[in-house]
Amino acid sequence: MRKITIAIDGYSSTGKSTVAKQLADWLEYIYVDTGAMYRAITLFAMRNKIIAPETFQVERLIETLPNVTVEFKRNNATGNAEIFLNGQNVEREIRTLEVSEFVSPIATVPEVRKKLVQQQQEIGKEKGVVMDGRDIGTVVFPGAELKIFMNASAETRAKRRYEELLGRGDTVSFDDVLRNVVERDRIDTTREDSPLRKADDAIEIDNSEMNLEDQFHTILQLAKDRIAGRV
Ligand code: DC
Repeated sequence: MRKITIAIDGYSSTGKSTVAKQLADWLEYIYVDTGAMYRAITLFAMRNKIIAPETFQVERLIETLPNVTVEFKRNNATGNAEIFLNGQNVEREIRTLEVSEFVSPIATVPEVRKKLVQQQQEIGKEKGVVMDGRDIGTVVFPGAELKIFMNASAETRAKRRYEELLGRGDTVSFDDVLRNVVERDRIDTTREDSPLRKADDAIEIDNSEMNLEDQFHTILQLAKDRIAGRV
């Protein structure tokens, strides 16, 4: 069967990774969570005091970037790809609210984007990939056969993220999570380099009122149509 490229973009906490993972499992495609790559660089910057409240040493970040490696390795126990920063598994550390607070400024830096976009294009060059992020359909794979743009109300998204963080045992307030979701939307959509926007040929899905199963089947059907060359 012919393999295609599936780009899933959208606002934060719209469930992009959930549906991307489901699709990749079903189609036996590679799944790439590009947000995890930006988060890993952010964790690196936090650990090295390059970014902190009121501080962002952009030049230092750019200088050290060639020495930072971000890669995915498969966890054989779960079957999921996990992210490694300079050889260390940071899958858990990158999901905190603190990393979420700093990731959008880090993702505005063109040198960071260039490095990660090149890596993403290399991973997906043979197709058979489902990639989620903010610029996949517009910049990373503008020729992707299927582009989805996901959205939901800020409250719905913050509620999902809040429950996820509580489920991990993190202590967070709903208001802080909501504020972070809104602030990240603002930075991600207004940055100069590759702002979050719907590609002209992307299909928009608002899943505020959709359950996971309906959403999966809707997108899977779109993928099957593309694979069969029906669209
Ligand atoms: O998908 P996520 O919430 O884990 O992404 C974290 C941040 O990374 C997001 O707020 C913006 C940035 N990002 C990006 O700029 N481009 C991507 N392709 C993926 C994420």
